[in-house]
Amino acid sequence: MTGVSARSKVRPSAVHYDARERLWAIDLASSTYAFVSPEDGAPPRNLHWGAAAPVDALLRAARSSGDLYRARRVTHADDETPEYGVAGDLHFEEPGLVAEYPDGTRAVQWHVSGHEVVREGDAVLLTVRLADDRHPLVAHLCYRAFDGHDVLERWVELEHTGGEGPVVVRAARSAEWWIPGTGRRTVRYLHGGWGRETQLVENVLAPGKLVLESRRGLTGHHLNPWFTVSATGAVTEESGAVWSGELAWSGSWKIVLESTPAGRLHVVGGWNEFDAPLLLAPGARLGLPVFAGSWSSEGFGGSRRGWHAYQREHVLASEQRSGRSPSFPSRPVRGGRPVGPRPVLYNSWEATEFAVDLDQQLRLAERAARVGAEMFVLDDGWFAGRRDDTAGLGDWTPDPGKFPKGLGPLADGVHSLGMRFGVWMEPEMVNPDSSLYREHPDWVFHFEDRRGSTWRNQLVLNLARPDVADWLFQAVDTVLSDGDVDFVKWDMNRALSETGWPEEVGRNPERAWMEHVEALYRILERLRRAHPEVAFESCASGGGRADLGMLARVEQVWTSDDTDAWDRVAIQEGFAEAYAPVAMMNWVTDSPNPLTGRRLPLSYRFHVAMGGSLGIGADLEAWGEDEIAEASHHVAVYKQIRRTVAVGSHHRLERSSDGGISATQYVAPDRSEVVVIAAWGVRRFAAHPSRIPLVALAPDEHYEDADTGELRSGADLMAIGVDLPGSLDYGSLCARFRRVPGAP
Ligand code: DGJ
Repeated sequence: MTGVSARSKVRPSAVHYDARERLWAIDLASSTYAFVSPEDGAPPRNLHWGAAAPVDALLRAARSSGDLYRARRVTHADDETPEYGVAGDLHFEEPGLVAEYPDGTRAVQWHVSGHEVVREGDAVLLTVRLADDRHPLVAHLCYRAFDGHDVLERWVELEHTGGEGPVVVRAARSAEWWIPGTGRRTVRYLHGGWGRETQLVENVLAPGKLVLESRRGLTGHHLNPWFTVSATGAVTEESGAVWSGELAWSGSWKIVLESTPAGRLHVVGGWNEFDAPLLLAPGARLGLPVFAGSWSSEGFGGSRRGWHAYQREHVLASEQRSGRSPSFPSRPVRGGRPVGPRPVLYNSWEATEFAVDLDQQLRLAERAARVGAEMFVLDDGWFAGRRDDTAGLGDWTPDPGKFPKGLGPLADGVHSLGMRFGVWMEPEMVNPDSSLYREHPDWVFHFEDRRGSTWRNQLVLNLARPDVADWLFQAVDTVLSDGDVDFVKWDMNRALSETGWPEEVGRNPERAWMEHVEALYRILERLRRAHPEVAFESCASGGGRADLGMLARVEQVWTSDDTDAWDRVAIQEGFAEAYAPVAMMNWVTDSPNPLTGRRLPLSYRFHVAMGGSLGIGADLEAWGEDEIAEASHHVAVYKQIRRTVAVGSHHRLERSSDGGISATQYVAPDRSEVVVIAAWGVRRFAAHPSRIPLVALAPDEHYEDADTGELRSGADLMAIGVDLPGSLDYGSLCARFRRVPGAP
């Protein structure tokens, strides 16, 4: 049975090492990853990434490839599959590492200098050490596999072991992946822009390179660090082999997919080296971000479910980690909260924008509570000098005109209504028109004699400076403590530019591209430790900073500023390809939509938003009693199904780009509940199906339709499915089925 079965055939992760053939094999839940050192000490090359393979078979494959290698007596570059290739030798694909030694040598020559395997709770960590033959550089290749998952975390740590001057690292990637097969391949990835994030693209991979990247200092709206590759035409939603990768980095990143002359597909990814050579000083260690890979034999759906489960259990969850990669926290930062449904949230941005005050927010809070919201979030506009987007960023004290007694009275009011209280902040930014900038103009990224480009009238604080990072922690910490705040929407509304750091000229100021992000991660972790009860949402003009690195530090992501429910269908479909729906914050907003002007029924707006974590962003003061009553009903229904949506398995029944209908099925982990959410746009008479069959149920189990009380078997639901309502354009449904144990 697809979907459900992947999680039931759990085999513990394990590492096998065969000293004779110098073979390392990593067992994952239903797959194997293996590599081999072709001669004693020679740098390893990939042997297998795919279906679970017995060690015997791998040894046989290693021997035959070893014979081939020995017969040729030379490295044939186009046949090679280095685990961590370097510039300067006979490999011509994008290398893992481009480095220069102090004597001008621009070629690294590795040998394997050891390896170790450590069990860490429900994960196994393999580290293989590659040391340069003559220079003091070591690469620690790290592989972490979790029991019950087919996701392999990979990263590299570079270490200068001392004895000569700094090594110039011109490019350092986190991992190289080799995807087997030589036939036509299809790649899927996510692209977009502001207001149209995470659009799923599907293309046949042509010879040459496909470069997915951000040079913006943040993850970006344009492309997202996720991809899948599969044999063209061989894969469906529920079956076929899919290789996928996802990067845990929230700064400039790069993933290159390239076919080699031998027809292999090589993928390399990690930090973007654009404008960022790094000096590795004697004794220093450089931890690169995690580049995770996953394999599934259960089609695009299996790949997606694999990412969701991994994120819920090992990224979003409170995990004790000993990994040293900076993209994941090295200690628990979640305060032990398990990943579960998020509170229903109300956010006041679309209702009030910058023109906020205490009484108006209290009125909205009272209405939000009536509808069933559990968290009330005061968005932009609350702090000193913030009349519009031209001023105030950096001055994180409540505006005395709007909140004369600070945020306390609003927090008290919200709490007394039984909701939690959240605020919006954009801590990495400063408006030139602010007290902070007037006092510390040197705190922003800048070159002394260049004009700093503003974007949304703001500049970026250089968090690579320890004094700035420390100030920023204190500023947010004070807001959280003084305001009795339970939630922060952490926004970031511009890319980095003119990334100068004048005080460090001559001392590798380019490292700020990476250090800014690492400092941000540390600040979030520090805040989480200081305020373990506070939840965080990542936002960057909508969904511009959604990636595994942020997911490890926040509860959720603001998916897009486009809240038009029909537009959201495609955005949310794409988001859920890579990221767990529990992390996807969706709001129900007004009709006509303030951005697009489209009118959509309230039920439609709710159904679409219920496919992730539900929020409301409407001007509730303008809603009539009938709308409040209908909204309360939808929120109540959502509260019944949200656990299944948040932690259930996710099956895409129909994709909007295929035929205009989007339909998703969520199955509770214990299969006690099945939810189907569907929505469509303009529909042509007789051109659309009138019902949608379900998948992945046990045929002989029985389910009660929560709306009609009708009892239906799994076989019935999978053969006949749910009826689509007769309405033509912009229809939607939310069907719920509860398993009835022992029913006939
Ligand atoms: C951009 C965000 O995406 C919006 O939701 C809102 O918070 C504004 N910033 C506030 O300035």
